[in-house]
Amino acid sequence: MSENCTNELEKRLKERYDELKWLYCELYGDDGQGFDYLCGLMKKYYAERGESLKAIDRVREKNPDWYRSNGIVGMMLYVDNFAGNLKGVIKKIDYFTESGVNYIHFMPLLESPKEHSDGGYAVADFRKVQPELGTMDDLRKLTDLCHKRGISCCLDFVMNHTSDEHAWAKAAREGDVQAKSRYFFFDGWDIPSEYERTVPQVFPTTAPGNFTQLPNGDIVMTTFYPYQWDLNYANPMVFNDMTENLLYLANAGIDVIRLDAVPYIWKELGTPCRNLPQVHNIVRMMRIICETVCPSVLLLGEVVMEPSKVVPYFGTTEKPECHMLYNVTTMASTWNTVATRDVRLLTRQTDKLAELPKNYVFLNYLRCHDDIGWGLDYDWLKEHYMEQIPHKRYLNDYFIGKYPGSVSRGELYNEDQILQDARLCGTTASLCGIEAAVYDEDESALNLAVDADIMLHAYMFTQSGIPVIYSGDEVGQLNDYRYHADINKKFDSRYLHRGKFNWKLAEKRKDPASYQGRIFAALRKLEEIRGANEVFVAQAEFSPVETGSANVLGIFRRYGKQNLLALFNFCEEERSISLGQKLTYTDLMTGEKHREDTVVLPPYGFIWALES
Ligand code: GLC
Repeated sequence: MSENCTNELEKRLKERYDELKWLYCELYGDDGQGFDYLCGLMKKYYAERGESLKAIDRVREKNPDWYRSNGIVGMMLYVDNFAGNLKGVIKKIDYFTESGVNYIHFMPLLESPKEHSDGGYAVADFRKVQPELGTMDDLRKLTDLCHKRGISCCLDFVMNHTSDEHAWAKAAREGDVQAKSRYFFFDGWDIPSEYERTVPQVFPTTAPGNFTQLPNGDIVMTTFYPYQWDLNYANPMVFNDMTENLLYLANAGIDVIRLDAVPYIWKELGTPCRNLPQVHNIVRMMRIICETVCPSVLLLGEVVMEPSKVVPYFGTTEKPECHMLYNVTTMASTWNTVATRDVRLLTRQTDKLAELPKNYVFLNYLRCHDDIGWGLDYDWLKEHYMEQIPHKRYLNDYFIGKYPGSVSRGELYNEDQILQDARLCGTTASLCGIEAAVYDEDESALNLAVDADIMLHAYMFTQSGIPVIYSGDEVGQLNDYRYHADINKKFDSRYLHRGKFNWKLAEKRKDPASYQGRIFAALRKLEEIRGANEVFVAQAEFSPVETGSANVLGIFRRYGKQNLLALFNFCEEERSISLGQKLTYTDLMTGEKHREDTVVLPPYGFIWALES
């Protein structure tokens, strides 16, 4: 290690040392040993970090706002679905450039048992790529190539649990006391039953309960699937070793670490075991550790909960935690609006987001690999005569195409007969009606569904933060029902929207008359306009606009000298919106200038009107 480098690390560590030590000792006491070990890890991983990554660290350290720019567009994909394996992704890398994306979330790709993988979220080895997908070297090559093209790479860090095939779990099953202390082991049901009184269920139908009894009678905590054993972060060895795994991935060139299921990582008897204060302590430590060893790396928290639970994961200005969080309530409220054609809830959600500090960066999305959970503002809905249970039933009936007139084609997920609850699966295109229209060979229905799909994307691109396209959505990919015939997948309807990327159909993106071509071209255009206008930066001011129509969502954005009025028609009829006065603006999609006091939006139409 050259002296300069040592100084760089020393300097970063010195600025953060006291706080890190304080946080560590608060959780683990101050015998010094564990903390010294952690500091040793930071030094080791800094020393081993490649020069090209260190160069990125320095650039981003100087420009810490880099990820707030309007030039970032993301895509999330499964390596096997997209291109078979990592080498295949390298061969297809031009597709990213063609699609205009420069941030790729590679879905879990570390070693995970085939039959018990939860889509890769049951990790058996945090330092080994799933053999069918390639090797760590392939991953390093891919991230390096991406960096050379200006593409950032995101990877899941599945930190709440390991697979029951992980070396620690195997040793624990053999009775190794130290290994057992990394998990939550019990020799009877007394304490587990006590936990069950206060801990809700994540997968009530597909994996009921929060504990699993092993063949030898031992009981182990398994919040998610029975083969995903919860790690015990009260054990400093777990924290240290998992931190080492995180740094290992950062040194493989991962720019964005997605902290999977982070609210769940600390357990305390008598509590819901979610969002406990110690979780924030741990996330803050991870932030400090990354800022010290690999400051270009961002933390993306997966907190799929109501807004009051999400926002604390940003931390405070002095003590930041995650760099980015999912805009999950907006996503669910968007689909609520698709089903109801009533924009009031989304308007209220926009208003709530507008009140948040502008330094918060959200990751915006329409669909992802998971189901849509109906986490809506039920207090507000109740005031407007919509009770939770019947409203959810309506949404689900609508999106599975059961409601009369619905063109959506989705499937329920984790239907809970007792709580009368269910979540929902399906691709954007199928939920918008493209699947039904293609099946019926109904061209006018197809055009309408494509317009709805494009309008929803335009709305996503209008939100502050980083828009992330779910791979396949850029070409209107439909649901894939083949999972019904796969024994390892058929009980998990999330596989409905985790189909193989259909390269043959995707070829049609080059044909402007096809629906694939229409969607692809529209998304490219939206991305370009977004990248060329500073009014789309994450820090812009924004507010909802009252449009006078229950079906049309209005958003006003302002940044620098730019003012943008964005209108989105969520219904299948034309809507005419009065602007109150004559407004001179450029329609950014057509480039045409207008001076009007009324805007006519076609069915599922939208406008980005830049005032001039
Ligand atoms: C996250 C993932 C989900 C997975 C769960 C358990 O919520 O998004 O797909 O099932 O974590 O790891």
